[in-house]
Amino acid sequence: SPGTSTAASSSAAASSDAAFLTDFHHVATFGATDNDGVDRQALTLEDKQSRDWMRGWAEGNGFEVRVDAIGNMFACLELVPDAPYVLIGSHLDSQPLGGRFDGAYGVIAALFAALRVKENVAESGQKPRFNIAVVNWFNEEGGRFAPSIMGSSVYAGLFDLDEMLAVQDLEGTSVAEALAAIGYNGTDAPPEAISYAEIHIEQGRILEREATNIGVVESSWYTQKLDIDVLGEQSHTGATAMADRHDALVAGAKIVLAVADVVNEFADEALVSSVGQHVVEPNSPIVVPRRVHMVADLRSSDPDIVKAARDTLHQQIASIALEHDITIKVEDFDVRGKLYFPETGVELAEKAVANEGLSIRRLETMAGHDSVAMNHRVPAVMMFVPSVDGVSHCEREFTTDEDMIRGLGVLTNVATELVNG
Ligand code: GLV
Ligand code: MN
Ligand code: MN
Ligand code: MN
Repeated sequence: SPGTSTAASSSAAASSDAAFLTDFHHVATFGATDNDGVDRQALTLEDKQSRDWMRGWAEGNGFEVRVDAIGNMFACLELVPDAPYVLIGSHLDSQPLGGRFDGAYGVIAALFAALRVKENVAESGQKPRFNIAVVNWFNEEGGRFAPSIMGSSVYAGLFDLDEMLAVQDLEGTSVAEALAAIGYNGTDAPPEAISYAEIHIEQGRILEREATNIGVVESSWYTQKLDIDVLGEQSHTGATAMADRHDALVAGAKIVLAVADVVNEFADEALVSSVGQHVVEPNSPIVVPRRVHMVADLRSSDPDIVKAARDTLHQQIASIALEHDITIKVEDFDVRGKLYFPETGVELAEKAVANEGLSIRRLETMAGHDSVAMNHRVPAVMMFVPSVDGVSHCEREFTTDEDMIRGLGVLTNVATELVNG
């Protein structure tokens, strides 16, 4: 069984834990920021460094690396010729001024877990049913190219490949151009998945508060974004009469407040919302802004709450437009339904945690993950390790080495079970 180990293999596992930590902290040097974070947005040179590292590590350890047309990287270990693959992984890209753990932990843990699965297979002499591959999904974060969770959503058939290749960043560079610029415009057929497992930091404080080692995700929150384009009129900040101004930023500021205040219509913490991205044009001290583009993010466990908040905001934005005699375009996008993960996978994680002698708790994910996209295509298992203070998408994001090692053990157990079918 995956939980038992001989003295020899447990000392091998210990050295491998140390190697895992060394590699994890090495990858955190790619795009390292001044305050212990990383800035490794999709398809930047820093993202390329982390991708090149993964390719080198995987090839050096006997994996075959494939890159598909949207830049997803798969490190494949064939254990049974022609069988489908258990996919395990996460993403190496980060938010701007992001943390070291969100995503990268799951990819690097998956590399070590896959290697251990291979060693276990060789030691046991038993023939597994499926192959295993580690995946680094393209653009989970969506900070540079929207929407987020892009590579896994293309793989899962939720997003159209050509549409995503045409998506542009704020500079007008397309995904296709950016992939080619760093040499990750792949042509390989991705491995066919039979199941998916991912480990990630919690990004909340439930595990920390309850002193629990592992979280297993039962369901994901309902989420949606609003793409808001406020179109005013550019003029001189000094020379234009106040009555003649159509200031896109004043109207935009009222929208930001409306998005923040809409949560007050619901129970405490039932709805969360923010305007994350906000771009002002032309952004000069002496020019009344002609345009503000912003993206609001609305999330709740209850789909009806998000829908009600969305309706309220559409109405409030219409009246702000009227009040300022300004055009405001609002589009709903990146709507993700509430999704349940299969009970068999939840129980698999619970069994793996018991094998490792650890504690586990079921929970919901408020953050979006590649597993949410993958769960549309194959049964997915999503697991969390504790986040100190529950913070993420910032440099202060932190998880202890000890918790990362525990999660690696659990992921190895789960992957072993999945490979044995
Ligand atoms: C991306 O990180 C998300 O949580 O949606
Ligand atoms: Mn993530
Ligand atoms: Mn993230
Ligand atoms: Mn995420």
